[in-house]
Amino acid sequence: MARKQRTPRWLEAARRRGPEAPAGPGADWLTRALGRAGVLPRAEAEQAIRDGRVEVDGRVEREPFAPVGEGTRVRVDGVERALTRQVRVLMFHKTSGPVVHGSDPEGVGTVFERLRAVLPPELQGFEWYAVGRLDRDTTGLLLFTNDEQLVRHSTAPETHLPKRYVARVEGQPPEPALARLREGLMLEDGPTRPAEAVLRAPDVVALTLTEGRHHQVKRMLAAVGHPVLALHREAVGQVVLDVAEGAWRELSGAEVAQGLGFQPGAD
Ligand code: URA
Repeated sequence: MARKQRTPRWLEAARRRGPEAPAGPGADWLTRALGRAGVLPRAEAEQAIRDGRVEVDGRVEREPFAPVGEGTRVRVDGVERALTRQVRVLMFHKTSGPVVHGSDPEGVGTVFERLRAVLPPELQGFEWYAVGRLDRDTTGLLLFTNDEQLVRHSTAPETHLPKRYVARVEGQPPEPALARLREGLMLEDGPTRPAEAVLRAPDVVALTLTEGRHHQVKRMLAAVGHPVLALHREAVGQVVLDVAEGAWRELSGAEVAQGLGFQPGAD
């Protein structure tokens, strides 16, 4: 028997509220808008709303999916908070171990917990989204942002944002293996786009991809007979990892615009 599809909560709320769905500049659902603006991360925002601590245009609002816009006046615990759109992006140096998932059934820890553990109070109010995924055992550059449009831009297949990985592999890949990586090869989910492949040491390959399929680096290197032993990401777009393991820093507006090719509102 076919499983009954659950209607997403945002859709249920939108149907209940009818014509009041968010529209116009900065339009969003209250919970999400609070996380994006750095007031409270989504789970805390939802709880605060249910607890009656949030006022919208002078009235206590208990609906987490209430529509708001940039002109909406919001108070949390009696303090007025701006919902102005601001795109914030963090670089984080992921260590081997934590998962890039919200859920953690194996109890190994998540990158979100690792990031929050080192962020200052003024950045704790944001909902941080990981920009793409890295495997548990992959180290290196992981970007986080409060802006879902930036996540979509950076991870969309058509953006072709280059990602540079360094892999230590089994054996010593000869030139024909590197040529196959460069030209593109066939994986079970289709052909890969041409990539840059450079030998940095006899068993170390720097591979730059302009797509981001599941376990792609590991699958490509296995396909040419050199399975990955250790994998590290050192750059996304023109943004190169420059903080120590477990550390973070915020990207400048220029790094976001030029390094990631992202203009808010353009996608
Ligand atoms: N490709 C992989 O195989 N693993 C990663 O973590 C990232 C890219």
